[in-house]
Amino acid sequence: MSDGTIITVIGAGTMGSGIAITAAISNVEVCQVDVSQDQLDRAKAYHKKTMARNVSKERMTQIEADAALARICYCTESCRSDESSFAIEAATENESLKKKIFASMVETYPADCILATNTSSISITSIADAVPAAADRVIGMHFFNPVPVMKLIEVIKSPATSQDTLERTMDLGESLGKTPIAANDHPGFVSNRVLMPLINEAFHAWNDGVAEPEAIDGIMKLGCAFPMGPLRLADLIGLDVCRDIMLVMHEGLGHPDKYAPCEKLVELVEAGRLGNKTHWGVYDYREAAKTA
Ligand code: CAA
Repeated sequence: MSDGTIITVIGAGTMGSGIAITAAISNVEVCQVDVSQDQLDRAKAYHKKTMARNVSKERMTQIEADAALARICYCTESCRSDESSFAIEAATENESLKKKIFASMVETYPADCILATNTSSISITSIADAVPAAADRVIGMHFFNPVPVMKLIEVIKSPATSQDTLERTMDLGESLGKTPIAANDHPGFVSNRVLMPLINEAFHAWNDGVAEPEAIDGIMKLGCAFPMGPLRLADLIGLDVCRDIMLVMHEGLGHPDKYAPCEKLVELVEAGRLGNKTHWGVYDYREAAKTA
C-alpha cells in the first residue's frame, strides 16, 4: 500500500535510479523521468534485479517486490507532476543543465512542491538564484552510491531555503529509511570536503611511488576499517566526478594547492579511464564486464 506520497525523480542514471527504487521500497510512488528511453530501460532492469535480490535474500515476498516495482512509472516526460510533493533532480553534474531543468521545474510542478537536487558539488545557492521566485523551495538532497545501501542523505540548505522546505525534506529522508543530516552550502559540502582530499591523497601516494593501488587500498581497508579502499571507491564514484569535485573546491575554497586534483587522477580521466562506468579506471574491469 502506498502512503500517498508521490515524487518525481529527474534522471535515471546510477543515482536517479537508486533514489527511485529506494523510494518505491519505502511505499512512495515514483515517476522516474529521463529524456533517454535507453536509460529508463537500464533503470528498470536495475530495479528488477535489486528486487529479485531482496526476494532471494528473503527481505521481502515476491508480492511486496512486485508492489514496489508497480509504484514506479518510467517516462520521458513527467506524467505525475501535478501530484508530486517532491521533484528530485539527479541529472548530469552540469551547472547550466541543472539551472535549465530547475527553470522548467518551477513551471511544471505545484507551487508547494519541493525542488531538490542530488548534486554532489554544485552550489545550491547558485541553482536557487536561477529560480528566484522559488528559491525558498530549492534544497540539496545528496544521496550516496549505492543509494539502496548507503544510509545518509546530506541535506544542503542555501540561505534562501525555508524552514518548511528543510523540515519536509528531513521528513521525506526519514520516510525513505535514510538518516538525513543537514549542512550549509559550501564547496564540497561536508562529505566531499572530507572525502575527496583523502581520495586525491591516495592518488598522490600512488603517483609518488609510495605503493601500488592494491597496497594503498589494502592498507586503508584493513588499517582504517574502510569498506573499500579510496582508489577503488574513486572508481565507484567516477574519476571524472572526483576530479570535478576537486576543481569545485579548488576554485571555491581559495587554497591554491590544497585542493588541486592530483596529476595522476587528471591523467586517467583524460585517457578516458573513468572507473566502473567505463570498466577501466584505477583498476581494469574489462574482462569482468565481458563475462558479466
Ligand atoms: N545497488 C543495490 N545494492 C547494492 C549495490 C547497488 N549498486 N551494490 C552493492 N549492493 C548490495 C549488495 O547486493 C549486497 O547486498 P546483500 O546484503 O543482499 O548481499 C550489499 O550491498 C553488499 O555488497 P557486496 O557484498 O557486493 O560487497 P561489499 O560488502 O563490499 O559492499 C559496498 C559493497 C556497499 C559498495 C561497500 O563496499 C561500501 O559501502 N563501499 C563504500 C561506498 C561509499 O563510500 N559510497 C559513497 C561514495 S561517495 C558518494 O556517493 C557521494 C559523492 O558525492 C561522490
